[in-house]
Amino acid sequence: MAINGIESLIYGVPDVQEVGRFFDDFGLVRDPEQPSEGLAFTLPEGSHVVIRHRDDPALVSSQIEGDGVREVIWGVDGQSALERLARGLASDRELTWDSDGTVHFIADFGVPMGLRVFAKKPVVSAPDPVNAPGLTRRLNHHRKWRRRAYPKVINHVVFATPDYEAGYRFMRDRLNFRLSDSQAGYGKYVRADGTTSHHSILLLNANAPVPGMTGKLSFHHANFGVEDMALSSC
Ligand SMILES: [Fe+2]
Repeated sequence: MAINGIESLIYGVPDVQEVGRFFDDFGLVRDPEQPSEGLAFTLPEGSHVVIRHRDDPALVSSQIEGDGVREVIWGVDGQSALERLARGLASDRELTWDSDGTVHFIADFGVPMGLRVFAKKPVVSAPDPVNAPGLTRRLNHHRKWRRRAYPKVINHVVFATPDYEAGYRFMRDRLNFRLSDSQAGYGKYVRADGTTSHHSILLLNANAPVPGMTGKLSFHHANFGVEDMALSSC
């Protein structure tokens, strides 16, 4: 086990303040100390959402078309595992190291990624006992009314890429991801070796005959986990 999930999603957007308000409404909590450029949010599990202007030079330049997530930082459960993964990646690509020990690289399918030691915090949930699959005791009971959701974890991120099969092979062979599901002609659902999520990343076929596919590398969505059955994506 090494990669234990998404440590940070770094977005590039046209209007930082507007997107910040969106994530406020979405239920994320802003960090008490904000970066000098852009915005930062931290989820209860300790993962982060970072918002930068699309022209911020701090964003890694890449082939990703359009706005959205521009870099994925994967959490690693220890320094030795991080160094082992970095050694393997260094055989055929350039790595950039930050002073905090984060290493950055570009995946074969063009998405900027990083690895950072991630002490993921356990998240406590109290799902509604009368509103879960298969439960019949909800008969004649009121369900728990929720005024709003507060995301607790980042579950997965999705990119459309012209060669999604090659993208899958990169995630499998270089970062030890495992295949969860394959949707012929449409995408590969793969999970990090240290997670119990169905998938940590979905690589969609950018040439699939479905709405939103442009044939180019682009961000599609990220998925956040909340208290119980409901899931939220943006
Ligand atoms: Fe999703």
